[in-house]
Amino acid sequence: MKTFLFPGSFDPFSLGHQDIARRAARLCDRLIVAVLKNSDKAPVFTADERVSMAKTCLSGIDGVEVILFEGLLVDLYRKLGASAVVRGLRGESDFRIEAEMAAVNKLLFPEYDLILLPCNADMVFISSSTIKEVAVFGGDISKMVNPEIVDFVQSKILERKARN
Ligand code: PNS
Repeated sequence: MKTFLFPGSFDPFSLGHQDIARRAARLCDRLIVAVLKNSDKAPVFTADERVSMAKTCLSGIDGVEVILFEGLLVDLYRKLGASAVVRGLRGESDFRIEAEMAAVNKLLFPEYDLILLPCNADMVFISSSTIKEVAVFGGDISKMVNPEIVDFVQSKILERKARN
């Protein structure tokens, strides 16, 4: 039973994340999408909302589970007996960050392994930060997030803007 782990803040879950999860699920028996609970990036969406968005976007893909996690990724990796972590790669800057994180994780747990899946060309410019930046000014995010969550993402971001 090959388990891959796809961790992230997913604030919010993008079409890019969805595509990576869909492709990663084909490469393993069980894909655990692990939503980081206490991200130091001060997420806009609550942990429960981020889990719920991921579940909605990934429903219908066999072998995928969504969980919440906190603490070290390697501890979860070890606990689940994972074979690899999967992350999407949009470009060079992602590569530098991923290589650094992988080096730390490998130092903590030498059996740790990482699979980087290159993003599809039409998704290279999609990031959670871009989605939030476009949505806060009322821009169209329908090409960046799953249709099932577009309204939720848009309204939460506008509500938050109105409050601040
Ligand atoms: O979507 P993100 O914010 O780029 O995901 C980053 C994530 C969740 C993969 C990373 O922050 C993480 O693994 N956090 C858990 C804490 C940890 O293990 N840190 C040591 C590795 S640098």
